[in-house]
Amino acid sequence: MAALRRRQHVPWNVAGDASRRLDDSDDVVRDTGWVFNNEVGGHLTLADFVRSGEQEVGAYLHYFGVDTDAARRSSFVEIGSGIGRMTAEFTKRFDHVTACDLDASFLRQCQRTVAEFGEPERLSTSHVSDGRSLNLPDASADVVFSYITLQHCNREDALALTREALRVVRPGGLIMLNYRTWIPLDSVLFPAGVVVRALWRVPILGPTLARRRWSTRLGWQANRLAPSVVLQDLRTHHERLVDASLWFRTPRSRATEPDVAVRSFHGIDRSHWWLIARRAD
Ligand SMILES: C[S@@+](CC[C@H](N)C(=O)[O-])C[C@H]1O[C@@H](n2cnc3c(N)ncnc32)[C@H](O)[C@@H]1O
Repeated sequence: MAALRRRQHVPWNVAGDASRRLDDSDDVVRDTGWVFNNEVGGHLTLADFVRSGEQEVGAYLHYFGVDTDAARRSSFVEIGSGIGRMTAEFTKRFDHVTACDLDASFLRQCQRTVAEFGEPERLSTSHVSDGRSLNLPDASADVVFSYITLQHCNREDALALTREALRVVRPGGLIMLNYRTWIPLDSVLFPAGVVVRALWRVPILGPTLARRRWSTRLGWQANRLAPSVVLQDLRTHHERLVDASLWFRTPRSRATEPDVAVRSFHGIDRSHWWLIARRAD
């Protein structure tokens, strides 16, 4: 099925086209890597890129309390794997990893990345062709994870993928989902983003613009979701969570949702938050 082309998908499609054209994985990182970890420069290598993912994987799994021994026996789904910056490390820690992404070229490079730096026999890939549903069976994963991806979807797709995470994880399994929320500067950034995304659809100009860092920084964060919105959507769809916690960069004194703990970890970006929870049995 042809990928659905939404405005906010343009930078990923453009970077995906570039990664398809390049044979050398270091060149892929030099050309497109900045869309994943924001680093630029001719000195970049796939090894450095994967190292940045390895460090983040270690930190997040530690803070979110993932049991290392249980992980070795667990199946893991990553929504928005990109070219495998974190996926390589996930394959070293989990028994089986399914990398899911909107862009099929990223998934091919993800396979190359994992072949070089991870455990390729533990990897499968799954194309998210419509940007909102996972082509995976119900209750088939122990853990579903997503990082810096749901903010790049429009609001409805981000909520749909959140429900998909709960469909795919088994009862008692764990979801670890990262979102971007509102910050004061968004009163300027959000309208500017709407304009930039509209420009990305202009023939010739759009794809050129979508490779400029300034334009992607403005335009690719297609939604901001407050925790209450995500939790309310799950309640509306009768999805039940247990052991739920919201994680922010700085401590928050007030719990905003009943039965949901509020925690902090200084490694979280100030505009991000995480939903960590288990699917009810
Ligand atoms: C900023 S990158 C993050 C990649 C990876 N998590 C990392 O930290 O390196 C966002 C990824 O999400 C993918 N993506 C964007 N929208 C998506 C959607 N609707 N469904 C699945 N993947 C999506 C993009 O193609 C891209 O690979």
